[in-house]
Amino acid sequence: MRSSSIKSTILSMGISVPSKVLTNIELEKIVNTSDSWITERTGIKKRHILKDGELISSHAIKASKEALERAKLSPKEINLIICATLTPDYLMPSLGILIQEGVGAINAGAFDLSATCSGFLYALSIADQFIKNNPNWKILIVGAEALSRKINWEDRSTCVLFGDGAGAVVVGKSSSPDKGIIDFILGSSSDNWSLLTLKGGGSCFAPFDKRLPPEDYFIKMQGREVFKVAVKTMERVALNLLERNGLTTQDLDLLVPHQANLRIIDFLRERLKIPSEKVYVNIQKYGNTSAASIPIALYEAQEEGKLKDGILTLSVAFGGSFTFGGVLMRW
Ligand code: UT7
Repeated sequence: MRSSSIKSTILSMGISVPSKVLTNIELEKIVNTSDSWITERTGIKKRHILKDGELISSHAIKASKEALERAKLSPKEINLIICATLTPDYLMPSLGILIQEGVGAINAGAFDLSATCSGFLYALSIADQFIKNNPNWKILIVGAEALSRKINWEDRSTCVLFGDGAGAVVVGKSSSPDKGIIDFILGSSSDNWSLLTLKGGGSCFAPFDKRLPPEDYFIKMQGREVFKVAVKTMERVALNLLERNGLTTQDLDLLVPHQANLRIIDFLRERLKIPSEKVYVNIQKYGNTSAASIPIALYEAQEEGKLKDGILTLSVAFGGSFTFGGVLMRW
């Protein structure tokens, strides 16, 4: 358990997703799949996909502008931008830099963070450290993904799962020591990274290197194995985080997990013995948007009036590499 009189908190949020929607029925025309398989095995009904030529930076910037407006902050007041992404527009410049340019945050440092689906929670935990040392800082965190550009549209085991989008939050000092980020866990386990990979595009293989099979330029996953590790790991993170803060799952008001698969969320809920009304789910609309999934879910939970003053939330994530994390927060 951590004790500090200064707590950081999410001051405001914004989201943006592409207007183009790809439904399960439309996917039936692209690969050998069915609406019923996707719905039963994943809970996903549709996902938002970038159009040709559309860039994820435009959504990262739009989400950031909304978060800044809601916080009533000038972009010049932002000290740091952390962008969690696996799919930036370019390797250089970073997506963080494009966000800085797009919103006009001329006084901020900016960088990208690569921690797959746990990226947003990693970024939140880093921001928490900065705020404790610099209580007047305002930090913009963005989770943004263009996963449709890294999907093999001939691989039905992955192409039905992912979507594009961006969620942004402004983090600053909480007005009360009773509210804000209570504690977090960050973790990674390198022993199973080969179960979920995106090899092409790094420095090992030059673009279109003939030594790498074409499908390795896209996300590859042994889904069933990843599924098992994801459930066990997120359960462990949730229980550790609660226990070391003298809390139980009964103290939780809302679980806002990474949205990778409705069955993963349901297994987690059952193992933690949390009633379904205390779990936020929006995977049916967006699919798995990796680093963008938790900020988009938090935003929608707030829009639906579920993030009431004083409630205790827990977010847990698990993703490729493997990374995992959890953040416990009082609103
Ligand atoms: O966010 C990062 C972390 N990622 C995750 O946490 C994802 C974890 N994994 C999963 O969500 C699930 O494992 C999947 C949704 C990827 C797959 O579901 P599953 O129930 O584990 O299916 P499976 O891979 O065991 O495949 C079962 C069957 C196979 O057919 P056979 O061999 O039984 O004849 C697959 O070929 O389902 C088949 N299948 C499909 N059928 C129709 C796989 N994908 C599809 C599809 N449509 N899209």
